[in-house]
Amino acid sequence: MATFFENPEQWDKLRDDRSLLPDAVEEMLRYVTPVMNFRRQTTSDIELGGQKIEADSKVVFFHISANRDELAFENPQTFDITRNPNPHMAFGAGGPHFCLGANLARMEIRVMFEHLLDRVPDIREDGEVQRLQSQFINGVKHLPVAFTPSARVGS
Ligand code: HEM
Repeated sequence: MATFFENPEQWDKLRDDRSLLPDAVEEMLRYVTPVMNFRRQTTSDIELGGQKIEADSKVVFFHISANRDELAFENPQTFDITRNPNPHMAFGAGGPHFCLGANLARMEIRVMFEHLLDRVPDIREDGEVQRLQSQFINGVKHLPVAFTPSARVGS
């Protein structure tokens, strides 16, 4: 939501065309990269990007960097909800430890935004964003918002 506040034209685009939501979810995941890094331990000597890494080394994989890699993405610093293909690594890069909850997380984001778009389409920033202080999770602690209340749903 904070990213949409920084890019209001992207929110308007999504509000005007709900069919963009699946691609928008992937772009939110790429651009925000909620899990910024993970640690690994090498099981053998390897060479990666011209760099030799010995077996049993502790290495860190920065999803946040991979997701802004200019070799993988055109205009990586631009939040573009129509981006497709979008080979982001927000859930890892495949392999046995790929996020077990990836599809649940995708669905949660989609459903949450469907409801926001239905019920509070004019949602806007109403105060300072307080970010989580973490080198692991890219998160927000407080995001004051304002909106026009819609009619109550259900009883
Ligand atoms: C936007 C939300 C989420 C993000 C960005 C995320 C990201 C990640 C990342 C980057 C990894 C490590 C992948 C790797 O090392 O290759 C991971 C692992 C994992 N995630 Fe998620 N995750 C999210 C939501 C969830 C949810 C909702 C669940 C469960 C309901 C979940 C369960 C797990 C588990 C169990 C692992 C470890 C898998 C393993 O080590 O075999 N995640 N996640």
